[in-house]
Amino acid sequence: KQLRTPIMAGNWKCNPKTLEEARTLASLVAANTAEDRRDADFFNNNNERGGGGRSGFNLFNKRNSNNNRGGGRGDNKNVEVLICPPAAFLSEVSQLIEGSGVYLGAQNVTFENGGAFTGEMSCTMADSLGVTHVIIGHSERRSLYYETDEDINKKIKKVIENDMTPVFCVGETKEEYERGDVYDVLSWQLAGGLDGVSAKDVENMIIAYEPVWAIGTGLTATPAIAQSVHKLIRNWIAEKYSKSVADRVRIQYGGSVKPDSVDELMQCPDIDGCLVGGASLSSDDFARICSFH
Ligand code: G3P
Repeated sequence: KQLRTPIMAGNWKCNPKTLEEARTLASLVAANTAEDRRDADFFNNNNERGGGGRSGFNLFNKRNSNNNRGGGRGDNKNVEVLICPPAAFLSEVSQLIEGSGVYLGAQNVTFENGGAFTGEMSCTMADSLGVTHVIIGHSERRSLYYETDEDINKKIKKVIENDMTPVFCVGETKEEYERGDVYDVLSWQLAGGLDGVSAKDVENMIIAYEPVWAIGTGLTATPAIAQSVHKLIRNWIAEKYSKSVADRVRIQYGGSVKPDSVDELMQCPDIDGCLVGGASLSSDDFARICSFH
């Protein structure tokens, strides 16, 4: 786990109703993250450790040492923070978070290069707005917009080709879970999505395990269930690629992650971060999630 920097992502989905709402939320997340970064610089400067002051993305979790929701661990923990606003607000949010250390993610792209594809956003468009990560294969896109494993595979490749990082979502439905088909479903989704993707690219991407039965339902998978599935995904990667790729690829958990469930989840050895829906719409809740213990 030491090899892997934790990454917390907020998937705003289609929730912010207006540009004003998105601006407010983005500004608050940026301010919280920048505040933590200043502490990182302070901490590193005062401990002659160095490294914390470079341009962005490292957080020192000061909240660990002084928040009143418990903790007090006070150790130096790097966390990457990513927000994924709706496409319509990417441009504005990109400007608002500049310099804060927050990464910008898109929720979807087309695998086409551009041209006559009404309603789509290409990778070059996203890239030009400062997007660094793209969520691919979210279960809502699979079920509501009929995205196939083949579409997902093409999108993953196109995102990588454009030097962005895919956040590749996999997960089983409630029925599949109850039938005991988790391994089969996940290996099918992984094999389809990663077909022809190189070991190096897999190592650098993010996989998000989102059990469909836990999304927006308030039913978080227990840490034990989440850990066992994350282990299963990592073993699948080790078999298909190598142990070194498996040791390095980051696997996020998504599905009703809240401030009061994040700590236990993040203590699991194979959970490297969370992909957060509902709770990422509150800057306070998201800040607490990013400051997990
Ligand atoms: O992508 C995040 C997601 O699907 C989980 O949503 O609202 O259950 O945290 P939520």
